[in-house]
Amino acid sequence: MNIAIFDREPFSYMSFFLKNSFLKLDLNVEIYNWEDLSFSSYPFYIKYRNEKITLPKVLITLSRVYTRNTYNDLTLIKHFLESMENNGVYCFNPINPTMNSINKLFSSNILGKNQVSIPETASVKSIKEISYYINKWEDVIIKPAMGHGSIDVHRLIKKELWSDATTSINPFEEILIWELLQRYGVLCIQRFVEKVNYEYRLQVIDGEVVSAFDKLSSLNSWNSVDYLKNQTASPHIPSKLEINTAIKAVNSLNLNWATVDMVNTKDNEPFVIEVNPALSLWDNYSEVSYTCNLPIEEKIIESVKRKLAKMEGAI
Ligand SMILES: Nc1ncnc2c1ncn2[C@@H]1O[C@H](COP(=O)(O)OP(=O)(O)O)[C@@H](O)[C@H]1O
Ligand SMILES: [Mg+2]
Repeated sequence: MNIAIFDREPFSYMSFFLKNSFLKLDLNVEIYNWEDLSFSSYPFYIKYRNEKITLPKVLITLSRVYTRNTYNDLTLIKHFLESMENNGVYCFNPINPTMNSINKLFSSNILGKNQVSIPETASVKSIKEISYYINKWEDVIIKPAMGHGSIDVHRLIKKELWSDATTSINPFEEILIWELLQRYGVLCIQRFVEKVNYEYRLQVIDGEVVSAFDKLSSLNSWNSVDYLKNQTASPHIPSKLEINTAIKAVNSLNLNWATVDMVNTKDNEPFVIEVNPALSLWDNYSEVSYTCNLPIEEKIIESVKRKLAKMEGAI
């Protein structure tokens, strides 16, 4: 088999699009439901619905495999996919870079070191630590270290102390934080970045920005959850600085493909909020995306074809 696509049922538009495109090129391709895959470490093999399957040359894992998982499931995913990599499968994206990007604590360290503008970021495991950062930064975001669809992302703002309180966290916030700490153990805390206009998203493939759009419904909201509930997007013409920032972010994380969520500050400085190690594609996507040179769909296919040709050349 040439190409395997790991997704979740119901399979996404992107899975079917990729499958059809690769079939047209006479490449052998199959879509698999993550839930129905199992594997053995030693001897190494993979089973799908109880049948052994041959290893593909290339594996494309769609973001829904990563985002419907807890920390422990992610250990299994890492172990499974890394074993495939160790047995000669090329993964889009490579697994270590993917895991580094998914974890906001790891990725902020790598991005910061590479001079990509990102908010100050720390890990916190207690109300006391969170309180420390609220006092220090005055306006903060707390969120799970490994995000999933912007769930459990909260903003906390420093307030005047009440007469008998030692912290600016009010009891309701404290209960919320307590509950999040129970659920996640560790949270990521960041300085809140005030944006102008919309949040926007640049998609990068092999070092090139291939699409960009504004999340229109983010205008009056700090939180992209509002965008997710009411997705309205409009083409975004990225500035040179925005393009360079997104490419630098993706390159420093060693990803082939990524979707970079960004905001601009009042001083017009592009800030990276998140580098998603995956691409999103939906019906009529090209219509809302600003496409440089070629449609994003063709860029994905080209990227995979290039990798396959390279692998064949190496044999
Ligand atoms: N430091 C921050 N400053 C301002 N807004 C933020 C910050 N962190 C997150 N947000 C807002 O919350 C949304 C979700 O956060 P994100 O890090 O993308 O989590 P997830 O991985 O769950 O999508 C962002 O798209 C943005 O709207
Ligand atoms: Mg996000």
